Amino acid sequence: MVSPLVALTPKVQSAIATALGDDYREADPVLRPSQFADVQVNAALALAKKVGMPPRELAARIVDALELDGVCDSVEVSGPGFINLTFSDAWIAELLQDVEADERSGVALQATQNIPIDYSAPNVAKEMHVGHLRTTVVGDSLARTLEHLGHHVIRQNHIGDWGTPFGMLIEHLLDVGRDSEEAELLVTDPNAFYQAARVKFDRAEKAEPAGSGGDFNVRARTRVVLLQAGDPDTLALWRELVDLSKIYFNKIYSTLGITLTDDDLAGESTYNEVLADLCAELEAKGIATVSDGALCVFLDGYTGREGKPVPLIIRKSDGGYNYGTTDLATIKHRVEDLKADRVLYVIGAPQALHLNMVWDTARKAGWLPDDVVPVHVQIGNVLGEDRKILKTRSGKPLRLMALLDEAVEKARTVIDGTRPDLDDTVRATIARQIGIGAVKYADLSVAHDSEYVFDLDRMVALTGNTGPYLQYVVARVRSIFRQIGLDPIAQHAPLLLGEPHERALAMHLLGFGDVVAEVGDTYEPHRLAGYLFELAQAFSAFYENCPVLKAERDEVRESRLTLCALVFRVMTTGLDLLGLEAPEQM
Ligand code: ARG
Repeated sequence: MVSPLVALTPKVQSAIATALGDDYREADPVLRPSQFADVQVNAALALAKKVGMPPRELAARIVDALELDGVCDSVEVSGPGFINLTFSDAWIAELLQDVEADERSGVALQATQNIPIDYSAPNVAKEMHVGHLRTTVVGDSLARTLEHLGHHVIRQNHIGDWGTPFGMLIEHLLDVGRDSEEAELLVTDPNAFYQAARVKFDRAEKAEPAGSGGDFNVRARTRVVLLQAGDPDTLALWRELVDLSKIYFNKIYSTLGITLTDDDLAGESTYNEVLADLCAELEAKGIATVSDGALCVFLDGYTGREGKPVPLIIRKSDGGYNYGTTDLATIKHRVEDLKADRVLYVIGAPQALHLNMVWDTARKAGWLPDDVVPVHVQIGNVLGEDRKILKTRSGKPLRLMALLDEAVEKARTVIDGTRPDLDDTVRATIARQIGIGAVKYADLSVAHDSEYVFDLDRMVALTGNTGPYLQYVVARVRSIFRQIGLDPIAQHAPLLLGEPHERALAMHLLGFGDVVAEVGDTYEPHRLAGYLFELAQAFSAFYENCPVLKAERDEVRESRLTLCALVFRVMTTGLDLLGLEAPEQM
């Protein structure tokens, strides 16, 4: 399965060898799509200097040697020595016929690698915020894509389930009672639960004289000590907190159609047992040293203001461990136990320094060999209309579930307007699919490290670069096939390309395999989103200009139906890799 550029490369290489001799057989022919032709070859420009020949003359010689019978309709030298090639319709049809016959629509399977992906990672007893939403959506799309390329993806949901706040959270749970409405908040509005505990703690801390605000702070501290010492009753209470939070996380995941399950949980607490040894090993190897009572790693190249070295603190002076300590454990585990070939951390851009320090420490310790590639897929901020980090909506603190409900409601208004003829329950399903799809697509259609403004009205629109615009293509093709009582999956016929819009659509369809591979290499789902958006545009132009069911000849009608069916397959697969559902109708 090859794209035209790939198929053409050896032909150009052998023409160069004929023109210049075998020494130049390996020369990079530099092919790229161009606005003047299907492809432009820039080899002559690069090679002319080397061989001391005017570029236009060299280009002409390469053209003479090119064997492009049946492949190109036109070959011409232009400008300072570009070679412009225009493929014949028959050749494009032939290439696309292979893609059409391929179950995977041109996506090649790669040699399987083990790839742990760290994404989502919300915190227990806290609301997921839009940043968590974005790592969840981007991480899930990367997991789906790498899996589709043939890799063994190991999802790692590094939830924040350990640390000092748990003393206060456990005591608050005991105070309100496990079956109380307040405890239920952990599932419905976790921040409210957290805040209530925090307020009680702060009030007790600030009370004068000491103790007049109750002993909540004292109890919370004692509880942390018990938790860390592994007291069974305390651990059972802690597990209840985590379990209630899991219900909350899973509700969000199922609403969003995220592939994470409880089996993928690998929270901070899972590393508790190894942290002491890990610190001891770093100390024994001379990588970590005690400074002001804390165990620190000082690395070259990490300095703060006035050139003062910035340490990675791995054990605080009170004996507690840090975020950096657990992350050292994550990289060690993923390399040694999960046998990672690459490790993805899909987390906020501001954590770049943290991750680099962790990886450099792990390299020094011999836990991260050079052939394992750690990658930080940096997640940028989501902004409100005021261009500040989105934290509230209509004055209230942001609740993710409420935000998703709002998206579905907006989508419902859209679909009520366009399809009043449909059943109420059918419209409800479509509204959910496009409302959720719209929110996810907003995260996926921009570079994952860029900032963007969260604007629900724009996201649910049926036009523009939106999720619903892409979903609409699928619904449209389904409706064409519904009219003739056939299934697009069963449609196969010889492809004939005569009209420019047919040809443009065919050329675009040839690129699917390459773009999916590119997402796997660059970890940038927005490339796939952009490809699908252009596919939707190419399909619309085709559909407006080339009658399908009313085509003049039967072969043309069958060919056009096959093009529609291939658009359907590529679009549903592409949407699935992004994590969007494809509605039956819209
Ligand atoms: N729980 C963290 C947060 O909410 C994210 C953890 C990301 N993963 C990691 N291995 N550090 O910011």
